[in-house]
Amino acid sequence: MCIVGAGIAGLTTTYCLMKEGKSIILLDAGQPGGGMTQRTTAHLSNALDDRYVEIERLHGKTGAQLAAHSHTAAIDWIDKVRFEERIECDFTRLDGYLFAPSDDARHLIEEEWQAARRAGVEGVERLDRLPGNMFETGPCLRFPRQAQFHPLKYVSGLLKAIRAGGGRVFSNAHVTSVDSDTPIKLETSQGSVVTADAVVIATNTPINNLLTIHTKQAAYISYVIGATIPSGSIEPALFWDTLDPYHYVRIHRQVSAREGEHSVLIVGGEDHKAGQADDGEARYARLEAWAREHFPMMNAVVFRWSGQVMESVDGLAFIGRNPGDPDNLYIATGDSGMGMTHGTIAGLLITDLIMKRESPWSSLYDPSRRPVHAAGEFIRESLNVAAQYTDWVTGGDVETEAQIPRGQGAVLRDGLTKMAIYRDARGDLHTCSAVCPHLGCIVAWNHAENTWDCPCHGSRFDKFGKVLNGPATSDLTPLKQEDT
Ligand code: FES
Repeated sequence: MCIVGAGIAGLTTTYCLMKEGKSIILLDAGQPGGGMTQRTTAHLSNALDDRYVEIERLHGKTGAQLAAHSHTAAIDWIDKVRFEERIECDFTRLDGYLFAPSDDARHLIEEEWQAARRAGVEGVERLDRLPGNMFETGPCLRFPRQAQFHPLKYVSGLLKAIRAGGGRVFSNAHVTSVDSDTPIKLETSQGSVVTADAVVIATNTPINNLLTIHTKQAAYISYVIGATIPSGSIEPALFWDTLDPYHYVRIHRQVSAREGEHSVLIVGGEDHKAGQADDGEARYARLEAWAREHFPMMNAVVFRWSGQVMESVDGLAFIGRNPGDPDNLYIATGDSGMGMTHGTIAGLLITDLIMKRESPWSSLYDPSRRPVHAAGEFIRESLNVAAQYTDWVTGGDVETEAQIPRGQGAVLRDGLTKMAIYRDARGDLHTCSAVCPHLGCIVAWNHAENTWDCPCHGSRFDKFGKVLNGPATSDLTPLKQEDT
């Protein structure tokens, strides 16, 4: 069997199948955990991002119950495996709190409390305000037995267990094509060919699915800052507000030889559709302002980064058989901001499917499901993607190459098409076609990450045009390189 993508979904699937005695090869385009896993803030939660009111509307009461059950089971599974495998990953159980940002949103707390209880979330309770000396929020919800961990330490522990169990892991093995005839044949950019009787594509967004899944999910960029706080000034917990996009907060305890033990407040939010905004500095500034208002004990910002989230139109991941392919080709995608638990659910569920066991979660996460109750969102996202093709007829970001500063990129019109040009620190230009090799949208420069981002389905490329994130499987086409 072959698993493609060594994030949480791919690693969990590999680990579970290995425990079933299967012979496994795990391929990753870069290093395990080096994609979006290393950019997560690793909230392990059964307080769903889209909230239970919405999940119940979209999937019914039984669907909401299964969603609660599966995310709770995922946290428990991580807890069990890190214990059994002795993985030192800073796993900590803690409470999570959902609060409303203003009086007129307080009704959302009451509604969510009722919906979470109908979904069977154990122990969820409504409090008059956040506990301790936290800022005033009015009523909030407490979700007990949530967790957090260090994602890369966990990845490293899973990898060690996989290798010890005989699993073969290949880094820098970028899969460029998947031929679904049996046995399934995969080709890598180095020209290697792998054949397997079953394949799981767990590449954040599927590289083997040209369109179907990409019409049902959209790529969003989320921003994160980390600031030191006096040790012990906030009791560790997870926090979320009800804004859209919402803020998410956790506290990370660090011990370093130089600074001893200290705490870092991690705050995320300010999401936007990938490739459709390039104002990262302003978003980081708003995030910091929000954090300082709510956590005045905050010191300097010491980290900041952004990550990409695949938002499904109906709030849950797509896990199972790839639509339109034979039964032995599986996908895991649509993390919906809950990549750690959805990824773990993927490992458990796909293992059940491969082992031909019944899973209570299979219909809920079936990639073939039709988002009938999310038709509005589906149409909105489809129109948004269609609108991106107008970039073909608009001007570029700049009129001439000379306007591109060192260390920056810009799109320049070139007759009927467009070029993506990056000027390096020496002043040399690196020029590619701006046409995304997936389905032909025009990529946009991302100043915050120095990447080219596609506004249609979330493909991303480094400053030289090398593909970083699917669904594209190939680089931007190089056009020329000039010295200036
Ligand atoms: Fe689909 Fe670029 S990701 S066109």
